Amino acid sequence: MPLDTAPCLADLVAAFPGAAFLSGADLPARNFHDTSFLPDVAPLAVVRPASPEEVAEAVRICQAHGVPMVPQGGLTGLAGGAHPIAGAVAISLERMTGIEEIDPAAATMTVRAGTPLEVIQKAADEAGFFIPLDLGARGSCHIGGNIGTNAGGNRVIRYGMTREMILGLEYVLPDGTLISGLNKMIKNNAGYDLKQLFIGSEGTLGIVTRAVLRMHPKPGCVNAALCGLKSYDDVLALLAAARRGLGPMLSAFEVMWPDYWQMVTQTVGTRSPLEGTHGLYVLLEAQGLDEAIDSPRFMAWIEAQYEAGVIEDAAISQSLSDVRDFWGVRDACAEFQTVLGPHCAFDIGLPVAKMDDFSRACRARLIEAMPESLSVYYGHIGDGNLHIVALDRAAADQAASPISGIVYDAVRQFGGTVSAEHGIGLLKKPYLGYTRSDRELALMARIKAALDPKGLLNPGKVIDRPASESPE
Ligand code: LAC
Ligand code: ZN
Repeated sequence: MPLDTAPCLADLVAAFPGAAFLSGADLPARNFHDTSFLPDVAPLAVVRPASPEEVAEAVRICQAHGVPMVPQGGLTGLAGGAHPIAGAVAISLERMTGIEEIDPAAATMTVRAGTPLEVIQKAADEAGFFIPLDLGARGSCHIGGNIGTNAGGNRVIRYGMTREMILGLEYVLPDGTLISGLNKMIKNNAGYDLKQLFIGSEGTLGIVTRAVLRMHPKPGCVNAALCGLKSYDDVLALLAAARRGLGPMLSAFEVMWPDYWQMVTQTVGTRSPLEGTHGLYVLLEAQGLDEAIDSPRFMAWIEAQYEAGVIEDAAISQSLSDVRDFWGVRDACAEFQTVLGPHCAFDIGLPVAKMDDFSRACRARLIEAMPESLSVYYGHIGDGNLHIVALDRAAADQAASPISGIVYDAVRQFGGTVSAEHGIGLLKKPYLGYTRSDRELALMARIKAALDPKGLLNPGKVIDRPASESPE
């Protein structure tokens, strides 16, 4: 018999008056999808709590009635982790915005989960600090979702992933318990580091409500170069030289294959700051302390790479506006949705040395199976993270095409991971076993069952409870 959701909705209406509870014709269209290209789904209702206690209250009500829940934030996720589920209440953190505190002595910022990343970056900048987390969706993604997916982005090579930037975390468990661990200390070895379980759990173990972020000193200067190289061996030589020669200043090492470059400069129409065509393109960024010392040092280092024959050509930034222009070529992939329409997007991880071999093998296999297929390659190569955007121009439904199967089979063969930074969500769930062992999957399922025995929080995403724990 289908679950009677009316009593749950009645309790939610009573607890969340006005626009804090929406259902039926009032459901906002924005909550019908994330950015995964999965078909729109109307949630049972949308609840928009305004405080951590209200999130806990919404979860308690749903749990008491056995109604499933899906946490939602900026809805920029690419794997379907925040995609709504028919019959489930969407708990949207969009009203929980704002920075609660900046503590200059501890170099921390305490934020509410619904705060957009860009707001956080700007607030840190105004206070003389720097938040290194950065990704294309910065204007609309929420920090809660960044934490839920352990987002990577552009500066992982220097600062690590979101996990490395979180000192304290507050979250609501699937039973509605609010756990407030807003720790500010870098060193805290008092028992299990519980927050790590929730960072990257994609809203399947708890809902993040607030976080203490670790801030860094604002860089004294930023230099960038857009380099053209002959071969992937030269890319590896440049990466090794950058690690040695720029040391901790190296803050981004982004590689773009010619198919990506062509798509951006010709189809999207972004102006190329670099002349000519090359075998590969690298956007390299270094954050220094002192312009007078570090900018000439950067310039001399690039010149040495040119003289050693590692790079064929380079555009070197003369100003911050040049740095932004260079990033424009890399950020232009945000336009792929507009110029290509629905497509498959990948965030695979691979051994760095095998990236180019992988791109050749993958492209060839896709074309063999689908002669009209198109795939472009780019990514955070210093982190072993390759992005692929692919589509079959002959197929009406990209999701139903064999693209994902072919890509993930190749990933498995090359010893990579099916997700380096976007998470598993729904799209990659069938392939999780390509990267994790049966024992690891069983342990994940046991953790899920321990925290969410009825499987009501973001059900069907990432991992299911063990079969024996599921209701008959
Ligand atoms: C990027 C996103 C897609 O790096 O992860 O462009
Ligand atoms: Zn990325």
